[in-house]
Amino acid sequence: MKILVTGGAGYIGSHTCVELLNKGYEIIVLDNLDNSCEKSLDVVKKLTGKDFKFYKVDLLDYEATNKVFEENKIDSVIHFAGLKAVGESVSIPIRYYHNNITGTLNLLDIMQKHDVYNIVFSSSATVYGTPKTVPITEDFPLSTTNPYGSTKLMIENILKDVYMSNNKWSITLLRYFNPIGANKSGEMGEDPKGIPNNLLPYISQVAVGKLEYLHVFGNDYDTKDGTGVRDYIHVVDLALGHIKSIEKKTDKPGVHIYNLGTGNGYSVLEMVAAFEKASGKEVPYKIEARRPGDIAECYANPEKAKNELDWVATRGIDEMCEDSWRWQSTHPNGFNS
Ligand code: NAD
Ligand code: UFG
Repeated sequence: MKILVTGGAGYIGSHTCVELLNKGYEIIVLDNLDNSCEKSLDVVKKLTGKDFKFYKVDLLDYEATNKVFEENKIDSVIHFAGLKAVGESVSIPIRYYHNNITGTLNLLDIMQKHDVYNIVFSSSATVYGTPKTVPITEDFPLSTTNPYGSTKLMIENILKDVYMSNNKWSITLLRYFNPIGANKSGEMGEDPKGIPNNLLPYISQVAVGKLEYLHVFGNDYDTKDGTGVRDYIHVVDLALGHIKSIEKKTDKPGVHIYNLGTGNGYSVLEMVAAFEKASGKEVPYKIEARRPGDIAECYANPEKAKNELDWVATRGIDEMCEDSWRWQSTHPNGFNS
């Protein structure tokens, strides 16, 4: 089976490419390298010993994207490509809506034109807005609090309409919780541009000495220690969730929706402690005001994915931190180290 991976040079995409190649799938990667670099794909080739075509193409370029489908017989698409920084989406919403929505519309139109009806889409737990309770199941009400989240929810709705219009489509919406960790080799991991927005990359850069201390955004939430609680999931477990989706849902018409999380919630301070243990480094922090838009607690009920995809996350918090640290400590400047 030949799979087109959009956004395949990015953090989750590159880890998924490794697992797809290891399982014997043929892949083609499309990425405009807006938030990534081609070195990640060189590492994918090195780690798997397999080659594949890479198209430096922007999904906003209809003709160039169409050409990828003309030149290759594609069976299925895993659609990671998109802009993902919550804060940035508030500052430049038009760019976020244009890139994520128009890019996806181009892709869907081209897929249909070439009779390709299998797609796995990277959605996010952000579509649950401020959940009333935890753990979160897939049937919880949906809402968003920022333009990035709105693009995810809009794309989910577009995909549901596309299925209604043509029941040949097999659409899988994977709602990721908080991906962290890295490939075991230490040669591939998250490589954020500039100062990281997310907790784990920030903690790793404090531990490696690039940043002075962690800003803990609030310790007055109604949680175990007052700091925010999230469902951190190893990026390799997440990648394997995509493989299971391809195995179980390809050519199975419908809209299939799954949470990909562990079902466990860890606080910011628990993550600091876990990272200190894994790295042997101190992670100094200061308690500060809450970050606007943050919620207290967010973790998944992952039962549906277990029952229907035969998928469970098996890597625990210590392994996530150890793998992040192996990558960060050997690549303090990411792929440019
Ligand atoms: P990433 O930025 O590392 O990867 C996304 C890739 O898409 C990048 O390589 C980027 O260059 C590419 N891209 C963006 N716009 C494009 C376009 N118009 N044409 C072609 N390529 C384009 O991000 P990631 O963390 O790997 O996330 C992958 C997907 O998962 C994204 O859709 C993201 O919104 C979603 N997601 C991520 C998280 C997270 O915390 N990392 C959580 C939930 C959902
Ligand atoms: N946090 C800090 N200091 C930091 C960064 C984060 O204290 O420097 C705290 C936050 O307040 C929150 C927790 O750490 O309590 C996790 O924050 P992240 O920014 O790492 O992750 P979020 O849960 O806010 O959001 C992430 C992605 C979203 C995605 C969501 C669910 O950024 O795009 O996970 O998948 F939608």
